[in-house]
Amino acid sequence: MEYCAGGDLRIWLDSLAQASERLPEDSVLHLFSQMLKGVEYVHSCHILHRDLKTSNMLLDVDHRIVKVGDFGIARVLESTTAVAVTMLGTPYYMSPEAFRLFVFAPHFLPFASVAIDRTVAMDVLVVGGGGREHAIAVKLRESPKERMTNLPIGDSDVAALVAAAEERRLPWFFVGPEAPLCAGLADALNAKGVPCFGPSKLAAELEASKAFSKDFFAKYKLPTASYRTFKTGEHEAALKYVEEEYGAGRELVVKASGLAAGKGVLMPQSVEEAKEAVKEVMVNKVFGAAGDELVVEQLLVGEECSCMAFSDGQTAAMMVAAQDHKRVDDNDQGPNTGGMGAYAPAPCLTDDLKPFVKEVLQRTVEALAAEGRKYVGVLYGGFMLTKDGPMLLEYNCRFGDPETQVLLPLLDSDLFEIALGCAEGNLKARVPEVRWKPGAAATVVCAAKGYPGSYPKGLPITGIPEADAVEGVKVYHAGTKQDASGLASTGGGKTTILMQYG
Ligand SMILES: Nc1ncnc2c1ncn2[C@@H]1O[C@H](COP(=O)(O)OP(=O)(O)O)[C@@H](O)[C@H]1O
Ligand SMILES: [Mg+2]
Repeated sequence: MEYCAGGDLRIWLDSLAQASERLPEDSVLHLFSQMLKGVEYVHSCHILHRDLKTSNMLLDVDHRIVKVGDFGIARVLESTTAVAVTMLGTPYYMSPEAFRLFVFAPHFLPFASVAIDRTVAMDVLVVGGGGREHAIAVKLRESPKERMTNLPIGDSDVAALVAAAEERRLPWFFVGPEAPLCAGLADALNAKGVPCFGPSKLAAELEASKAFSKDFFAKYKLPTASYRTFKTGEHEAALKYVEEEYGAGRELVVKASGLAAGKGVLMPQSVEEAKEAVKEVMVNKVFGAAGDELVVEQLLVGEECSCMAFSDGQTAAMMVAAQDHKRVDDNDQGPNTGGMGAYAPAPCLTDDLKPFVKEVLQRTVEALAAEGRKYVGVLYGGFMLTKDGPMLLEYNCRFGDPETQVLLPLLDSDLFEIALGCAEGNLKARVPEVRWKPGAAATVVCAAKGYPGSYPKGLPITGIPEADAVEGVKVYHAGTKQDASGLASTGGGKTTILMQYG
């Protein structure tokens, strides 16, 4: 972000006045409208700014107001204490920093009405502490200058996160993982007037319940494998269905409906294994309550790809497609993991297929809105590209990990503006078009030997600065710890990143 020389509107206007050319009328009107918005905004924060004049407006190079400055003689109408302090001497809100706290105090929101572009650089709390969130934080850093702090708050501790929003008067949140969203973090924040990039609990049900999502796909005719769902106690019916399907020559996949940390899908090789899988989930409860409901669906064949979109509740802005690799060893061998690597763009999503997938994502966002489940955040579609066209395997309600680590470096537009625009419910107002860079990105996950089984923790990690120094390379951290003795693995970190701008 650059500012006008001298930084204020008056200087810019003076320089224009000296030039021979006249300022075009629409520019004049635009400036006036911005100034009025500035006045309206400051007043909407219950602050009477007695010195709103051109020299207190800071512009960026595109002549948009980025900051309303000089609160030296501002008065906080609602707070008599503040006025008392003024009489004694210097009011604490004289500094823009203190003002910022007032502006974004939760009860002064909603902020959807904030019309000034980048009024002031805003802090944001990134929830989560894995590689995905590191990539998010690094990308957000491309916005104005920031300080980054780790807060020792568990990423699923909704109460503590909401308390941090209030205590620190944080203007908005960017949520990485699904667990806090499914636990209602976005709802709790929105109830306090704090915008959140991440869906409400109702909208996140798209990930949290495969039974719900399959019924939703069916209702809105979104392409997916044919299926049946069964509830606890209905396992006999499920077994009968399995036998009938295999009898008719069809193969099945057995899924626990609830959240099972990416392990709740069983891929049987025979009718016996399929029946065994049903019993494991429904009777032996190997996935606990996640298996209270069961989805049995037809086996699909094809290449898989992750197609994500930024959603503000109305529009899905599709990202480039990515592919991740789940098995731990080379050549697609070994047990499944949380993801050992990813790359983007994925060429399997050809130009012919893109419009189809884009339409599915857009229709999903519209259908969710129609269901009263407005979807804000990253809508992650897992697609199988079958010979009959792309089919939805599932939706996740957040960025993929490690797909994020390859997608964000390819993002050309400003992630801060995109996510905030979505959280405010109007992406286009901030970012009319989400742009991507040409080229490709790939990431490889390094894990201790033994992962995803048992593996040693606390191993020293070396060579990071050397790797980071290579042109085009960026190392993202997940489950690492830095202390006096150096960098070491922890086998999973859970902190939350506070990005402080300005
Ligand atoms: N109908 C299906 N046909 C073939 N493979 C499937 C099917 N459903 C799921 N899978 C495989 O199982 C993986 C996990 O399934 P998914 O529905 O994405 O659940 P989750 O990610 O929650 O474990 C998919 O990435 C895919 O490889
Ligand atoms: Mg999946």
